[in-house]
Amino acid sequence: MLGGKRIILGVTGGIAAYKACELASALSRRGALVDVVMTRAAQEFVRPLTFAALTGRPVHTSLFHTPGGDFVPHIRLASEADLAVIAPATANFLAKLAWGLADDLLSTLLLALRCPVLLCPAMNTAMLMHPAVRANLQRLREMGYHIMEPAAGHLACGAQGPGRLPEPEEILERIADLLAPQKDYRGVKVLVTAGGTREPLDPVRFISNRSSGKMGYALARAAARRGAAVTLVSAPTALKPPKGVEFVSVETAREMYREVVSRFPLQDVVIKAAAVADYRPRVVAAQKIKKKEGTLILELEKNPDILFELGRQKLPHQVLVGFAAETADLEANAREKLEKKNLDLLVANDVTRPGAGFGWDTNEVKIFYPDGRVQPLPLMPKEELAHRLLDIVREIRTLKTTRAEG
Ligand code: CTP
Repeated sequence: MLGGKRIILGVTGGIAAYKACELASALSRRGALVDVVMTRAAQEFVRPLTFAALTGRPVHTSLFHTPGGDFVPHIRLASEADLAVIAPATANFLAKLAWGLADDLLSTLLLALRCPVLLCPAMNTAMLMHPAVRANLQRLREMGYHIMEPAAGHLACGAQGPGRLPEPEEILERIADLLAPQKDYRGVKVLVTAGGTREPLDPVRFISNRSSGKMGYALARAAARRGAAVTLVSAPTALKPPKGVEFVSVETAREMYREVVSRFPLQDVVIKAAAVADYRPRVVAAQKIKKKEGTLILELEKNPDILFELGRQKLPHQVLVGFAAETADLEANAREKLEKKNLDLLVANDVTRPGAGFGWDTNEVKIFYPDGRVQPLPLMPKEELAHRLLDIVREIRTLKTTRAEG
């Protein structure tokens, strides 16, 4: 979502300026073109060179001495920007913006901007609570600025309390929210499953698979950003649950089956990105299994196929999407699963390819449709793929409703 976006990162003079370096780097890594604009005081904390190296772009520090003979940098930067984020925003900067002062590049630029602006104040707690600062923040909010309230915690001045700049990852999430496409999933109920189920053998061991949960979490996050009411049913992963989704944590395939099947009648869209174990140990030992001479034979029994059951119960308006991880005969297996499980879409990936499937941040998939069409998609970040899949699901939903109406 950040790929190719032009983002202005305004850095003002507070100790949290060092965290802006991480933010600049994270934005650039995700493909954004980041133009850093620093106030004079900000340069007391961090050198412009640091930002230039992290973003690969010149850093702007002056209205008058500008790189490459750019004589009206504030107007050019303003006209090109998709979003501006000011992190950290000092009390002085907030006051200037609240009252329209324009005495340096950043404050002048802010008056020329027409894109969304996210302000991330960071300062000592007493300063943050000062009535003048509160009033300025309120005034800025009323003007339409987006404000990320500072986090509470240990401050550089030694005090404890609100005033910390939120972590760069959190700021990044807010930026992505602000840049999200239209809320085309508002009012739509979407259930996503993610992660690899764990099937216990004894109190300390389990059988599982290599699923990281990244694809499912990316889908849940993307759907929530687009306004859907999202339920994420997740087997254990190392990921943080996305904000604003109903999170249901499960461990085994049978738990997932219960949580998903019981919720199914209320859903509009179900996307099964989880890697569900097809088998579980027939007996779960009450005590830890001790080693003995010779080989150990495990007896496994079949788990219920959740997606098959959903396909059986599916109502005409519901959209059901399955995933298939294959290591051979991708096309034939994909078509068979699509048909057997009564799916509207099957997303198949060859997990032996570098960059695709388990653990990677990217994925390369082929999409199979019930009418026989196959659509290969190029290698792309899972986040972007999530949005592409949601675009396709939206089209299927539109087709289903027009068919129902016709
Ligand atoms: N799935 C499921 N319940 C299971 C097994 C799989 O809901 N017990 C779902 C997965 O979430 C995925 C799809 O079915 O969306 C395909 O999973 P996959 O393991 O590739 O297919 P299987 O049908 O299990 O076939 P096989 O393991 O033989 O390839």
